[in-house]
Amino acid sequence: MNRRTFLKAGTLAACAAFADSRTAFAADTEIEILTAEPGALISPHIYGHFIEHLGGVIYDGVWVGRDSKIPNVDGIRKQFVDDMKRIGAPNLRWPGGCFADGYHWRDGIGKSSARPRRYNFWQSRMPAGLDATESNQFGIHEFMHLCRLVGAEPYVAANVGSGTPKEFHDWVSYCNAPAGTVSLADERATNGDKDPFGIRYWGVGNESWGCGGTMRPGEYAAKYREFVTQFPVYKDPFLVATGPRGHSADGDIGWTTGFFEGMRGATPPHGFSLHFYTDLRPTPLKAGSFDAREWYEVLLRGVRLNKVIEDHWNEMGKFDAAHRTKLIVDEWGVWYAPGSEITPAYILSETITLRDAIHTGLTFDVFNRHADKIAMANVAQTVNCIHSLFLAQGDKFVRTPVYHVFDMYRSHMGARQVPVRHRVPDLNVPAMAGQASLPGLSTSASVRDGRLTLTMTNPSLDADLTLRIRLGGAHATEAHARILTHQNMQATNTFADLDEVKPAVHSIKVASDALELGLPKQSVVAVECGIS
Ligand code: AHR
Repeated sequence: MNRRTFLKAGTLAACAAFADSRTAFAADTEIEILTAEPGALISPHIYGHFIEHLGGVIYDGVWVGRDSKIPNVDGIRKQFVDDMKRIGAPNLRWPGGCFADGYHWRDGIGKSSARPRRYNFWQSRMPAGLDATESNQFGIHEFMHLCRLVGAEPYVAANVGSGTPKEFHDWVSYCNAPAGTVSLADERATNGDKDPFGIRYWGVGNESWGCGGTMRPGEYAAKYREFVTQFPVYKDPFLVATGPRGHSADGDIGWTTGFFEGMRGATPPHGFSLHFYTDLRPTPLKAGSFDAREWYEVLLRGVRLNKVIEDHWNEMGKFDAAHRTKLIVDEWGVWYAPGSEITPAYILSETITLRDAIHTGLTFDVFNRHADKIAMANVAQTVNCIHSLFLAQGDKFVRTPVYHVFDMYRSHMGARQVPVRHRVPDLNVPAMAGQASLPGLSTSASVRDGRLTLTMTNPSLDADLTLRIRLGGAHATEAHARILTHQNMQATNTFADLDEVKPAVHSIKVASDALELGLPKQSVVAVECGIS
């Protein structure tokens, strides 16, 4: 599809007669990276994770039990640990989700055989005849062991919906008080962990507008104040307040306004949680089988995230011009209607295809470009649930295409975001409600210690791009690139075929102040390059 017709971008943008108006522009597209204008630091926590007591996430996905034949480290699935380490997973959010507001932490400590069995929030969503009783075999000690094995920072969601401030504060003291101080620290030591857990990130409830309490924003602001005022500060905390349902049709700005109205005069939270699902549940779209129109529909809905972030950030700025409170996108992902579960009991698990990997690239580019606003993001969820990196069942385990995008983007973590300029016109694509406009190229770039990382996603099903990348006055010393693509847009990895979709080395030419490479249709490419 590389036709060398040097049309002006503006002319093409106006030409909407074809399904993909970029086709005729596909050659010699120039990209400029402003390497001399580094911006915000990309928080490593943007590449974060989320695991909940839901379906097959914790039990089987993460926790296989100490007596299991499946390779494990003290009951934790070994391959999960190894792969999370491999991608440098920076954090883990736990125990929910909706589960968190029904969870009482004492149920998950002490001798495992003596722990109570409890009702799990997700029980009522289980298919008839299937049980979700919570066994509490995986509690705070097991969670912290997992975090330490992976090298991930814990992010714990506290129970506001059915808990009390006292229960929350006791949990914080149990986790963070130095050994030999308060009785709760002694109890923690008796249960196997003398040293404090040092948990800094605490979510004060989850989706308090829904499963976390069905509250109005002003009611939640009052709860939030009540829950944090007597917070035991053993460790400099980072407190996250429940934010909006960003994928609501109206963007849910009212929640943000109402919450910050209710916080007037009080100390603002460090983080404000924004949930953004590319929510296909109300549509007929399927996870594993789709046409071009459905490919683009998912991506179009996904890139709305950009505006949702900007809208809420602007609203927050009306109350806090200095922006002391940052956004925490602690649930994001493509959520399809039921139908492709690994097994019926693993509710919310989905087939993950190349389309979801492309969506991941677009999402990470949005996050990176908004690095000044976003302190953390957590994919929903890491294993066996919605936008997963892994699917696991018994002794079977597979990395999904999404895993590979996490891997390809990891050198952005902790680097400084730099602007990228290009004139690739929007695509005119078929979607559910007719033709729509989708950015023809997604990019983000960062620099650290004389190295540049550039990630790019070509969402088109038709048009390849040939790129010349100028480095804003810098010179390239060497470069290498990796690509994730497949000729079949529905390609996926399965227990039987683990590596159908996996990254490959991609050809790149270094020409001193520029790089040259192709960006094939339906692909994500990551370039790493030494610059001087
Ligand atoms: O991730 C699944 C669920 O989605 C979470 O439990 C909840 O917070 C959200 O609605």
